[in-house]
Parts: sequence; structure tokens; C-alpha cells
Amino acid sequence: MQPSELDFINTLRQATPYVERHRGKTFVLYLPGELMSDAETLSQLVQDIRLLHNLDIHIVLAAGATPQINQALEKAHIAWQQHPPFRITTAEMLPIIQQTVGKIRSQLEAAFTHATGQPLMSQPIPLLSGNWVIAQPKGVIDGIDFQHTGKLRKLQTTSLKHTLQSGNIALLTPLAYSLTGELFNLNTLEQAIAVAQSLQADKLMIYTHHLNNLPKQLTPLELKNLLPCLSPAQQHFLHPFTQDLQIKRVHLIDQAEPNALLYDLFTLDGKGSLIFTDRYHQIRPANLDDVGGIIHLIEPLEAQGILVKRSRESLELEIERFIVIERDQQIIGCAALYPHLQQKMGELACLAIDPHYQNQALGEQLLNAIEAQAKTLGIQQLFLLTTQSQHWFIEHGFQPADLSILPDEKKSLYNFQRRSKVLVKTV
Ligand SMILES: CC(C)(COP(=O)(O)OP(=O)(O)OC[C@H]1O[C@@H](n2cnc3c(N)ncnc32)[C@H](O)[C@@H]1OP(=O)(O)O)[C@@H](O)C(=O)NCCC(=O)NCCS
Repeated sequence: MQPSELDFINTLRQATPYVERHRGKTFVLYLPGELMSDAETLSQLVQDIRLLHNLDIHIVLAAGATPQINQALEKAHIAWQQHPPFRITTAEMLPIIQQTVGKIRSQLEAAFTHATGQPLMSQPIPLLSGNWVIAQPKGVIDGIDFQHTGKLRKLQTTSLKHTLQSGNIALLTPLAYSLTGELFNLNTLEQAIAVAQSLQADKLMIYTHHLNNLPKQLTPLELKNLLPCLSPAQQHFLHPFTQDLQIKRVHLIDQAEPNALLYDLFTLDGKGSLIFTDRYHQIRPANLDDVGGIIHLIEPLEAQGILVKRSRESLELEIERFIVIERDQQIIGCAALYPHLQQKMGELACLAIDPHYQNQALGEQLLNAIEAQAKTLGIQQLFLLTTQSQHWFIEHGFQPADLSILPDEKKSLYNFQRRSKVLVKTV
């Protein structure tokens, strides 16, 4: 088989767990108006969204229209005031905004109806819009009357969920009505965030070009601390994500690379930034379901002679000795503690971090967890045998020791061929 064919197969294999994980989930996707200005970009994007829909992901599309509205207002010689990031919408602007949003909706409906020639993609996917969002005036803030600029008052959640479960993609536009029947212009991003919260969506996915200097993953608190170091435009844009969000994951996707949507959803790390409110990785006791993941992690290290070879059977028998780091349902780290309680000693073994995640202090976190576990068992000394990581352990408080300090049962199993160094630490 050609390397490129193998690449394809491996990519497909890597994506499979994500296909399973995303099935039946609800994603709110914010598309800025800029992405709809280019027919080719829009067509590719719609194909990717159709693919997600065919994988049984429920999608709410929040379509922005800022550049299109700006253009239409300019054409009509209507000036507008901005109170970033919101436009102050006057009554005279409303018919123009209605007309512009109507055009965008029709453009999207056309793109979702357009058959691509691929069998699964040949059926039009119903793109429905409705009055799920009930608006209210933004009001007067800091003495500024926002007039017909509105915000979400409440969401008709049951009806929207029903629409999604019936196999439709739901489209939200920057227009919504109040209970008095008045029309309001909503900021689409603000609306997308509010809808994702009300729906308790699994993901909010946002196209943006405000990704500069953002780490790949961060919590809202980390973002809050980082905010003062970012540009004013980024601060405006990112501020809502520093709040108590109640959305598990917000993906910020690079607007310059619309294909990044699929990459971010079906690879472990993606290309953009992920703001997560749930714990992104967790350290927990291992169970039998983790055996495959542990083997996957340690096999290459066993082959290099860094770790002692363990069979699947012995791992299964000793699984309760292991702790693991799980991230996105993948095992990216493990360690084991073998107590020798008579001697108040414990062996730290099989410490390993997936090479993609090394140098993020995860090894240290596992070591700390093993030390805490040892203390609760009344263990006073941790020891380990290592061939290649002596310095890492010395930097973490271990000291070289003589073979004679090992408990007798361990001494008798010592493999003189490996010539491992013995290290010990008082906990
Ligand atoms: C050793 C190991 C667990 C450390 O995990 P980690 O999460 O990368 O560790 P941390 O982020 O806490 O520490 C990273 C530091 O350790 C250093 N380091 C990594 N492996 C090292 C080694 N074998 N010897 C000395 N230093 C090492 C890194 O260079 C880095 O140093 P820096 O902070 O100065 O840049 C990981 O490298 C690993 O899995 N190695 C292969 C398996 C192994 O050797 N296990 C020990 C079994 S006895």
C-alpha cells in the first residue's frame, strides 16, 4: 500500500472515536458575515456542515451579517453609530436590515439545497428559521439608547430542540421579535452565546480572526488573566468567554481557514483555541477498560527498553495499582504504585506520559498523585528502578540508593541485565 493510502487509513482511524463521541450532540455554530461573502468558501463550508449533519450532529447555525448590513446602509447613505461591538439600530435602518438578512437567508437556503453529486450529499438538508428567539430592547446603557438593537429575552427551547431532533438545521439570523411584535436587530455572536447556554449545547463553535497569542486550550479564568495582554479588539471579542459560561466547550476556529471546522472536531488538538469549563484532563484510578489505552501508551517505551515489558494479562491483574490521565476519553498518562506495606515502602512504576503531552508537568502531577496515595497507605518511602529517567526523578526529590534498600521480594526479582538505577524518596 502507498504511504498516502496508509495516511488516509490512519486519519480515518483517528477520527472514528470523535464520530462516535459527537453523535446526537448539539453544536451552535457562529458564522460571521465575512464567510458568506465568498461563494466558494460558503459552498465548502456548507458541505462540511452537511457532513456533520449526516453524522447525526444537531446544528444551530447563527449567521451574522455585519459587512452586508454595513454595505447596504452605506448604499442607502445612512450613517450609524457603534458602541462596540454593538450597532445602534434606528427605525429607519430596519427595512434595509430586513432586506439584507432576507438575502443572506436565501443565499444559505440555496447553498443547502444545492446537490453536490456525492450520493449522501445529494438530498437537500432542510434549513429552517423560526421565531425561537424572543427579543427585548437592549435599552439605555451608560446613557446610550440602543433603540432597535435588541438582545435575547428568552428562547423557545422545546420547539428549537424539536426542530433539531426532526432532522433539520436551525438557522438564526440577526433579527428577532419581542412579545409586543416589535422587530429588533441582535448581535449574532451575543445571540449565539445566549442560545448555546439556553440550549445547554455541547459545543459553541465560533469562527474568528482573534486567535493571535491564544494558547490551544484554556479555562475562562486563564483567559481572564490573559486578557490584559491582548489587543483591545481581542479583549472586546473574548470578554464574554471570561464569564461563568455554562457551555462545556467553546471552540474558536480560525476564520482564515474555514476547513479548520472539521480539523478541530475530529482531531485531538485541533488548530484553533478551546475554552473549556469542564476539566479537560483528569487523573483517576484505572479500570479494566483502560488496559488497551495503557498498552498503547507503554508499548513503544517497552520496545525502547525504557519500561519493563508487561503482558496484557499482568496489566489486567494489576490494574487497580494504576492511575491514569484521561483526556477526551484517551489515556495520555499512567503510573502505578506497588505497596510493600510491611516495610512501609512502595514502588512507583510504569510512569509514562504520551510524547505529545510531555513537558506540561503532567508527569509531575502523576507523581504527586502517587505520593498522596502512598501517604494514605502509611508508606514512608517511595522507590523506583529506572534506566533512562534518573535525572527527572532526582529533580523531583528522589535520591540514588543501593539495591540493598529494596524489600526482599523486590530484590529477588531484580533484573541484573537491565542494570537499572535504584532511586528513593521519603514521602
Ligand atoms: C519522564 C516523564 C514521565 C516526564 O513527564 P513530563 O510530563 O514530560 O514531565 P514534566 O513536564 O513534569 O517535566 C518535564 C521536564 O523533564 C525533562 N525530562 C523529560 N524526560 C526526562 C528524562 N528521561 N531525564 C531527564 N529529564 C527529563 C524535560 O526535558 C523537561 O525539562 P525542562 O522542564 O527543563 O524543559 C516522561 O518524559 C515520559 O513519559 N518519559 C518516558 C517514560 C519514562 O522514562 N518513565 C520513567 C519510568 S522509570
